[in-house]
Amino acid sequence: MRILIVGNGGREHTLAWKILRDAPEATVFVTQPNGGMTSRVEPVAIPSGDTVALAGWASAQNIDLVVVGPEGPLASGLVDRLEHVGIPAFGPTKAAARIESSKSYAEILMLRAGVPAAVSASFTDLGEASAYIREHGAPIVVKASGLAAGKGAIVCETVDEALQALESIMADRAFGEAGREVVVQEFMPGEEISVFALADGRDAVLMLPSQDYKRVGEGDVGPNTGGMGAYAPISLSSDALMSQVEDEIIKPTLAALAEDGAEFRGLLYAGIMLTESGPRIFEFNCRFGDPEAQVVLPLLESSLLDPMLEVARGGQLGGTILEWSSGAALTTVLASEGYPGPYPKGRRIHIPESVRDDPDVLLFHAGTTSGAHGLETSGGRVIAATGLGTTLSQAASKSREAATAIEFSGKQFRKDIGWREFARAERDVSMAQPEEVSQAEPGPG
Ligand code: AMP
Ligand code: GLY
Repeated sequence: MRILIVGNGGREHTLAWKILRDAPEATVFVTQPNGGMTSRVEPVAIPSGDTVALAGWASAQNIDLVVVGPEGPLASGLVDRLEHVGIPAFGPTKAAARIESSKSYAEILMLRAGVPAAVSASFTDLGEASAYIREHGAPIVVKASGLAAGKGAIVCETVDEALQALESIMADRAFGEAGREVVVQEFMPGEEISVFALADGRDAVLMLPSQDYKRVGEGDVGPNTGGMGAYAPISLSSDALMSQVEDEIIKPTLAALAEDGAEFRGLLYAGIMLTESGPRIFEFNCRFGDPEAQVVLPLLESSLLDPMLEVARGGQLGGTILEWSSGAALTTVLASEGYPGPYPKGRRIHIPESVRDDPDVLLFHAGTTSGAHGLETSGGRVIAATGLGTTLSQAASKSREAATAIEFSGKQFRKDIGWREFARAERDVSMAQPEEVSQAEPGPG
């Protein structure tokens, strides 16, 4: 089988790794592969954004399946072009990808589908948006409606901050044309989970939920990034919660898209806040999360390729059951100094053999390239070091040891990925000590 993966970041490295596990005999092509992928895949020199050239290439090369990793090519209609030339592709069409590429469309869709979501409003006029913010008060969330590499959402503690965010998105165009329209959203307190759903247009199969750590700093401080680490599984999750997410959020959304003539076939990613009133959606993405894929896919024991092929060929997922490892995975992203702001490139990377050879460590490269002097940095997020273990603590140790041992100048990473899970576990232990609890609790009165 000949498979083309479009995209060259950490998510696409993980997809290539999983597909080659599912089908070791397959030939996997990747557009402009990063420095960690080159040994196992065939490079294709076409950039992931050149949809015309990619469709032509895939057709001439008799490709059996194209897997589109990033949102950019999906939003610009790569899958539509591939469909046109008869190449099966895993990923939504341009119309269905609007669920991510236009947050204002997503808001309208969610309202129509009646899914539990943050209260929100869209604006193209700065004055009207300011008035709405003054009326609703803070905390409040201001988002560029278009694609902004995961950085377009600003959680604001005060009205002044929100007005500044608005100014920077709409007037200064901090995220370019993505800020022509903004979505202002109610702030929802709670813990976040990322849910991946393989979708065939009508039905979905949910994958293991994970948790992403989006802020650059330890303790979840500083600006949002594309994601500094993730872990799975999550003790907060349960079969009942996942059924609720499927029935109340995923299925009604797929039905609303289908009603719009935009059947979603591919991977629907739901960013969900677990609030006191139940799970509520704050964003949809039209592709796998990065770095969530780096923990979810290593725990998937059954094939990913089979359901992807089924969806890409226009089939149905009915009866598909995914099998999961009983272990845990945690990934730590090594980033360049300065990220998510401007960062240097071309720093030499050293990966010790002990890390390379550790069967419980998987290194998924993102911004790396094989230069004349070996491996070098070429992006903001450089490598995701995924640790595997029977328990989450073991997975965390493996990931952190690897992150510490890999060297490049200016390396930054968070040593606290998964802290919410560990804090929960500690709380559960202290709750389980009955004597202390009965002393601490006030009597029935
Ligand atoms: P997004 O770009 O929509 O994924 O948002 C980035 C981050 O901002 C999310 O991971 C959340 O931590 C936070 N966020 C976004 N929307 C909301 C919301 N309505 N309430 C609270 N936090 C939010
Ligand atoms: N990690 C968040 C995202 O992929 O959008």
